[in-house]
Amino acid sequence: MKLGILSRAPRSYSTQRLRAAALDRDVDVGVYDTLRFAIDLSRDDPAITYRGRDTTGIDAILPRIGASITFYGLSVVRQFQAMQAYTPNTADGIANSRDKLRSMQILSRHEIDIPATTFVRERTDIRPAISRVGGAPVIIKTLEGTQGIGVILAPDLKVAEAVIETLQASNQNVLIQRFVSESRGSDIRALVVGDRVVAAMRRSAAGDEFRSNVHRGGTTEAVELSPELREVALRSAQTLGLTVAGVDMLESDDGPLVMEVNSTPGLQGIEQATGLDVAGAIMDHIVTNVAFPDLDVRQRLGEATGYGVAEIHVDEGSPIDGITLGESGLRDRDITVLVVEGGDGVAPNPKPDRVLNAGDRLLCFGKLAAMRTLAPVRRARRRRVEKLPSDPLPD
Ligand SMILES: Nc1ncnc2c1ncn2[C@@H]1O[C@H](COP(=O)(O)OP(=O)(O)O)[C@@H](O)[C@H]1O
Ligand SMILES: [Mg+2]
Repeated sequence: MKLGILSRAPRSYSTQRLRAAALDRDVDVGVYDTLRFAIDLSRDDPAITYRGRDTTGIDAILPRIGASITFYGLSVVRQFQAMQAYTPNTADGIANSRDKLRSMQILSRHEIDIPATTFVRERTDIRPAISRVGGAPVIIKTLEGTQGIGVILAPDLKVAEAVIETLQASNQNVLIQRFVSESRGSDIRALVVGDRVVAAMRRSAAGDEFRSNVHRGGTTEAVELSPELREVALRSAQTLGLTVAGVDMLESDDGPLVMEVNSTPGLQGIEQATGLDVAGAIMDHIVTNVAFPDLDVRQRLGEATGYGVAEIHVDEGSPIDGITLGESGLRDRDITVLVVEGGDGVAPNPKPDRVLNAGDRLLCFGKLAAMRTLAPVRRARRRRVEKLPSDPLPD
């Protein structure tokens, strides 16, 4: 197997450790400067060259894309994916995690708790937004900051407003977030690899600093995670589409809140705090999964038009409520149930004797026309008719 580590820092601790872990496992490994790839869409097959040479033969990549080269880095990762190379983190997964608003939107949509967050543009919306997240002191964050830079704790309403307006005036989009003061400057970093948390540490801010980032002087110690923290970390990484991730969580009075998920987690802090071989775990994961690159079902359907993936909700009184999957006749209608999720937990590849109950959600693959007949009728929401200005205002 040939692995390309995509990194602009070949001598950094993380890259060195990952390279050594690959060599330990007899993986043919090279470290490539992400910006020196050239994407070639002129041939029949997708291709990518490195310093003018062909790169055929790379079966897997490990992207370590820094925030400053997100756009180019993601294009390179996407091209490797088009060439069927395996990557633990896909371009979409990395993009999801890179933008703090986008990642918060995805996580909250999937019932993962985050600190109360708002995003506004209009000046008059700022005050109400701050009060919606609990008032000042309040956290203000630029969408793509890292290492604690771009995270501000505004002590009062006036400062908060001034900071937000200043940032917006220089074309920076900002989040307004509840300040989780009860975590007292400390947070949890869980290193997720595949379906395991392989290491975890607590980071504590130095002195009167509220940010616990190591780059801001934070100190680290190994921690044993509660099952709840572990579950939240795994679900966060999985929901964003990452199999290697550093999940940052605050311990609030109401349980863990996910603050951020990093797709290129540094290894030095966590390996030194825990004494664990994180690089080795990442490499084992790549070696095990190299045969299964990510695939887009929609794109792969090819000639199988009319087929797709959909979710069917079992409503109260629905014809499949209270009977078994076998009795439901779904299979005869060309519908295969991939996963049942509901009160009895999650059942992947459910057996015919699984009873379906109101409230269950069935993730299905099959004939879309057949699935449509089972989908609940969406009732149109009554909308208040708004008076529109006769001339739309330019923005
Ligand atoms: N809502 C919050 N409440 C309390 N502390 C926070 C909050 N958001 C961030 N912090 C602190 O600031 C640090 C940096 O925030 P984070 O969102 O992870 O940005 P970065 O990408 O710069 O690390 C966190 O590690 C945490 O210590
Ligand atoms: Mg962080």
